[in-house]
Amino acid sequence: MGRARIAVMGGDGIGPEVTTEAVRVLETVADLFGHHFEFFHEPVGGHCIDEHGVALLPGSLRRVKRADALLFGAVGGPKWDDPRAPTRPEDGLLGVRKGLQVFANLRPVRVYPSLLDASPLKSSKLSEVDFVVVRELTGGLYFAKPKRVWESRGQTRAVDTCAYSEAEIERVITVAINLARGRRSRVMSVDKANVMATGRLWRQVATRMAGENPDVKIEHVLVDSCAMALVTRPESFDVIVTENTFGDILTDEAAVITGSMGMLPSASLGSSALGMYEPIHGSAPDIAGKGVANPLAAILSSAMLLRHSLGLAYEARLVEQAVDEVIAEGARTADIAAGGSAISTTEMANTVVTTLRTLHSTAR
Ligand code: IPM
Ligand code: MG
Repeated sequence: MGRARIAVMGGDGIGPEVTTEAVRVLETVADLFGHHFEFFHEPVGGHCIDEHGVALLPGSLRRVKRADALLFGAVGGPKWDDPRAPTRPEDGLLGVRKGLQVFANLRPVRVYPSLLDASPLKSSKLSEVDFVVVRELTGGLYFAKPKRVWESRGQTRAVDTCAYSEAEIERVITVAINLARGRRSRVMSVDKANVMATGRLWRQVATRMAGENPDVKIEHVLVDSCAMALVTRPESFDVIVTENTFGDILTDEAAVITGSMGMLPSASLGSSALGMYEPIHGSAPDIAGKGVANPLAAILSSAMLLRHSLGLAYEARLVEQAVDEVIAEGARTADIAAGGSAISTTEMANTVVTTLRTLHSTAR
């Protein structure tokens, strides 16, 4: 029997709809296994700007820091897209990442055989695809200063800064190496060492760590070449590790090649057990409030929460198995229905909950 306090930030768009269903799955897990999970909600993103003038309240961050885990939905939408706005929904997300110091963002990419037809790639390339991207999440272009827009000699100018320290690179590559040890023991380190100073430092650190960890095969690739390889030979990857901006771009590419973007979860981890779990898909404002969003990425994120923050690997596996099963049996929300008949967000979650109960009772 375990106790846990779980913070929930649904955010904007479909975020609240899908996190509600993920909470329901976690409640089912608690019920089946005799755990006690307590949930509390905090505002973030665009609706937080509307209500409080900021995308993240300092008090929310303090409370989340004392929780065992954070389940996050998504932020943003056209309503808050004015480039001149003093604050943006994304500031809330970035504030949480930085505030919790979750420097390693794990984005597993796997294929569901029955969804392969939705992929833009030939399905013959895809059956073997199974990799994880470890994206550095609290450094690089997203956070380094200077970062500003200003006027000078009749021109508007802007600057962003990419900065990394050896320690920041080393800790995220360590996460990738440890992850690879439980998989196929291969790490692809991605950089832009031919142009960027931070890229050369990245490669230097990765090369040293390759020497120190001979049981894991660490290779290097330039980011442009990696973008190409993701579509030409996606099956060749096991663990990919890269800096923040490259990771942002490569994970959208990686997510879409499987044809199941709405299915992919993520975990953001730091040096304590407190982690942040969110679906990769965004706030999808076009379908918000319609009850049609796919809750499976949020549900799979809650499985990662069970595994990484609560140490409940068996329960996590059972949730993942339930999702595998409902997909194999043909349950489809609109995004993965390929024009066929689709069920609602809540119906999909109901199917997962029922399957979870059945799996649990047959396993005993
Ligand atoms: C992501 C998103 C975010 C990012 C946005 C919403 C700020 O694209 O998590 O990949 O760029 O990190
Ligand atoms: Mg992104």
